[in-house]
Amino acid sequence: MEILRGFQFELLCCAAKMTSTKPDRTAWFKGGTASCQETLASGAHAYRMVLLGAPGVGKGTQAELISERLGPCQLSTGDVFRAAKTLDPSERTPALSAALEYMKRGELVPDETVIGIVRERPNCLRCPAGFLLDGFPRTVQQAEALAKMLGDLGVNLDAVLSYDLPIDQIVSRLSGRRTCGGCKAVYHVATKPPKVVDVCDQCGGKLILREDDRPEAIRVRMEAYAKSTAPLAEYYRQRGLLISIAANGSPEEIYRRTAVALAAR
Ligand code: AP5
Repeated sequence: MEILRGFQFELLCCAAKMTSTKPDRTAWFKGGTASCQETLASGAHAYRMVLLGAPGVGKGTQAELISERLGPCQLSTGDVFRAAKTLDPSERTPALSAALEYMKRGELVPDETVIGIVRERPNCLRCPAGFLLDGFPRTVQQAEALAKMLGDLGVNLDAVLSYDLPIDQIVSRLSGRRTCGGCKAVYHVATKPPKVVDVCDQCGGKLILREDDRPEAIRVRMEAYAKSTAPLAEYYRQRGLLISIAANGSPEEIYRRTAVALAAR
């Protein structure tokens, strides 16, 4: 059994060497009937997973690594809202404009708005390359809506990856985060600094502090997490889907823990 797990783990790590392209997220941002051309190498497993964890624990960082190496597309509801910010206000629906105000304060966007956003993207949930939901679901009501959507599409979740880290380390990850205003690449002033201060290595854009990374919004986000999102770990544990992963150490170390845990399932 151990030999088999080791072999499966090596396969997951080999995938890293063979595929290092970023999946196309067009369909996720556009919604509706938009689709993309994502496929996996023949015989590769299409992972369908949810990422859980407090704001700033490193879900987006891990999503990027898993996505590049194992193929599932990163579906972040926060990214959809942030993309809406770049639209002209006249192009935003009233629900989307209200969502941006909740987000700025660090509060959760109402369930019906978020569920509507995901429901408008069925092609992403039935993508042949799989998916990695990042930031959704965040409440039990959202989890129940997701279960219904997946049931209707005949799709099963493989696992829910729950990343855990002490609060002081989370706050330091959040307060040091800088995000590119152009391509949205994520940096950290101490652990992942750009080559030139405040300038994106990838596109030359200006790095900014996310509005909800201000101390007062961080406090509200942590409270919302403790009240509404943390109980989801128990929801998924009861359904046999939860995998808890320690989120200390480097992103690479955490990715390896994730790969080992997936290989052991
Ligand atoms: P969302 O965009 O989902 O944000 P979040 O869950 O608060 O998570 P973050 O993006 O802040 O952090 P992360 O865990 O991805 O960490 P990251 O990898 O960037 O949601 C934003 C808002 O949208 C919500 O507050 C809400 O208003 C709304 N919303 C979205 N979805 C919703 C929903 N379903 N329901 C209701 N409302 C919703 O890492 C953080 C920093 O740490 C970075 O600087 C990174 O470089 C650094 N870092 C990462 N890993 C490591 C490491 N191992 N070591 C050192 N540094 C590290």
